[in-house]
Order: sequence, then C-alpha cells, then structure tokens
Amino acid sequence: MSLCHLNGNYLPLAEARLSPLDRGFLFGDGAYEVIPVYSRRPFRLAGHIARLENTLKAIRLPNPHTAAVWTDIITKVIAGNPWEDQSVYLQITRGADPVRRHAFPATVRPTVFLMSEALATPSQMQIDNGVGAVSANDYRWLRCDLKTVSLLANCLLRQEAVDTGCAETILFRDGFLTEGAASNIFAVKNGVLLAPPKSHLILPGITYDIILELAASHDLPHEVRAISENEVRSADELWMSSSTKEVLPIASLDGQPVGAGRPGPLARRMHGWYQEFKDTVMRCA
Ligand code: PDD
Repeated sequence: MSLCHLNGNYLPLAEARLSPLDRGFLFGDGAYEVIPVYSRRPFRLAGHIARLENTLKAIRLPNPHTAAVWTDIITKVIAGNPWEDQSVYLQITRGADPVRRHAFPATVRPTVFLMSEALATPSQMQIDNGVGAVSANDYRWLRCDLKTVSLLANCLLRQEAVDTGCAETILFRDGFLTEGAASNIFAVKNGVLLAPPKSHLILPGITYDIILELAASHDLPHEVRAISENEVRSADELWMSSSTKEVLPIASLDGQPVGAGRPGPLARRMHGWYQEFKDTVMRCA
C-alpha cells in the first residue's frame, strides 16, 4: 500500500478522496511534476520546484507552498513508501468550485496531491537494442513549455506509438522537431549532438539540461538549434530523454532504421555518463 499526500494529510493512496467538482477533473486546470528519486534522494529537486513555480505563475495559480515546505512534503512521501528508487508525482489544481464554470473561482483553495511509485527505468534490453518510434504532426497548444495536467493531446500522440508496438511519438511542427509525446528528443549527426532550443513549443526537461551539461563537461561537440524533419530522418542517432526513461536510444523511426538500426556510440557514452553522474551525485553520502 503506497502512501500519498492530499491537502496536508498523509494517507494510503486507496483512501484518498477528491470532489468531482475539482477543476483538475473538470477542466484539466492544474500543474504537475514527476521527480525521480534515487536511493531515497530526489534528483534535481530545485530544478523541478523552479519549473513548477514557472508553470503555476503562467497559469495564474498561486503557489501554495514555499520550496522548503515542498521539500518537507516530498521527503515525507519518499520516507512513507517502500522503494529505494521512486518516481514522485506532484499535482496542484485550482481546486473545487461549487459550480462548473470556466472562469476561476473568486477564492482559490488549491488541491495539492502527491503520490509515489517504484521508479521504472528502461530494461537492459531496451538500452542495448534501442526502441522504436513513430512520427506525428505536433497539434498540441502553443504553451508546451508548461507542465500542465491537460495532457489529452500528449496521450493521443503517445498512443499512436503504442498502437504500432513503439515506445514514443516524435513530433514535428512546421517541418521542425519539437519533442516526444512525453520526452525530449536529441539527434546525432557526424559526431555532433543536436538539441532543439527551449521555447514555448517544448517542455524544458530536467534530463535535457543534464544531458547538455554532461556533453559540455565531457567535451562532446553539441549544438542547440532548430532541427529540421529531414535532419531527424537522416540522423546517425536519435535519443529520447525524460526523468523516468533517462537516456534511451531510438533504433527505428516509422519503420526505418535510425543510423545502423542499433544504439550508436554517442548514445552508449551518454547513457554511461548519466549512470555515473547518478551514482556519484545521488547514491553517495
Ligand atoms: N514527462 N517533454 C514532455 C512532453 C514530457 O512529458 C516530459 C516528461 C519531458 C521530459 O522532461 P523531464 O526530463 O523533466 O522528465 C519532455 C514526464 C516524465 C511525465 O509526464 O510522466
């Protein structure tokens, strides 16, 4: 039985109850974060709290807690659950209104909910062989930089991949790469790592930041710039990244092999650096 947090209380997840008038349920009106936890330590917590603050500000939902209070709640949720490595899910909605109306309620009492699951990172087979991806037109809204719970478009797009036995859907807008349905996407061409720039069209991934930091600290040539659909389709390597997938090579796109159809040398190096970084930064006292 996993322990969750709901509006100041800690309780078994199966006992948590919400109003059907909650605006998160009716309108998808809320923000969220997914924070990986290694050896019971939240990874890059300050970055997740800063991104949450940015989303809340943009959707005009006052942040109910200081960073210190968020840290305390997250620490208690981690301590109350059995796994060494976890994935903490945090959600804040604009709360329940007595009636259904689009405009905000006059007084907002946000709903704060956190739960945790065992962290499920990719299998060794996925890391060794890579995963398949499909592509789709990015028809999401124009604030993809915000981590909001209105995720229907992302769910529909991810399902397109799953329907064909693939792991991710790579999105293009106006002929350029944006990101994956639930991940950031990197390309490699002629030994150079390419990453699309942060903008309103992609989520500023915490893992994306770490990958670029590792590229810089290991002198891996890299460029942050717009990447055309043609460049993606002719890339030597493609990777997806997220808090739960970490760095995962993509071996095929729309049924065509990416490069040699196997994870490339840079993917293997970056995956190794990422594991090393986790092990030195997160697992040591
Ligand atoms: N998703 N882009 C999108 C659209 C995402 O949903 C995610 C992560 C990312 C990667 O961000 P990060 O590296 O900070 O995890 C990029 C999470 C894991 C989710 O919704 O479950």
